[in-house]
Amino acid sequence: MIPQSVRDDDLLSELRGILAAEPDPIANAANTAALLYARLPRLNWAGFYFLQGETLVLGPFQGLPACTRIPLGRGVCGTAAARNETQVVPDVHQFPGHIACDAASQSEIVVPFSIPGKFSGVLDIDSPELDRFSAGDRELIEAVAALFVEACSD
Ligand code: SME
Repeated sequence: MIPQSVRDDDLLSELRGILAAEPDPIANAANTAALLYARLPRLNWAGFYFLQGETLVLGPFQGLPACTRIPLGRGVCGTAAARNETQVVPDVHQFPGHIACDAASQSEIVVPFSIPGKFSGVLDIDSPELDRFSAGDRELIEAVAALFVEACSD
């Protein structure tokens, strides 16, 4: 992956350092969410859901309290997990079945991840700004999810 800017490169390097030598998924998810929330501008939520059976269950996050359980296939998160495909939603009000945890959210990106035989889930990021996430942001968040998976695979 070619980072879209030096700043993205910095964020990925910082994350690599934070995740180094720590395989625990909760610890790594907590620090990943905190770093994204601190470093990326114009966000109102950043966090994880982990798949338990057919339900995504809330994991570590930054932002307001959120819905704790999302059925596979429901909302932006459930769609990303069911299709195993990143969802970039420029306007959440146009996404059929969008689940509004925070009324401030206007756009959203959800990246699914999986460690076969261990766990899977999604990394979800919300913005109070319409059309906040560019193609470059998608590459960045997918790279973040890949680093998280790599760290937890050790
Ligand atoms: N908007 C998500 C629900 C999770 S919150 O944004 C934190 C969805 O539609 O799946």
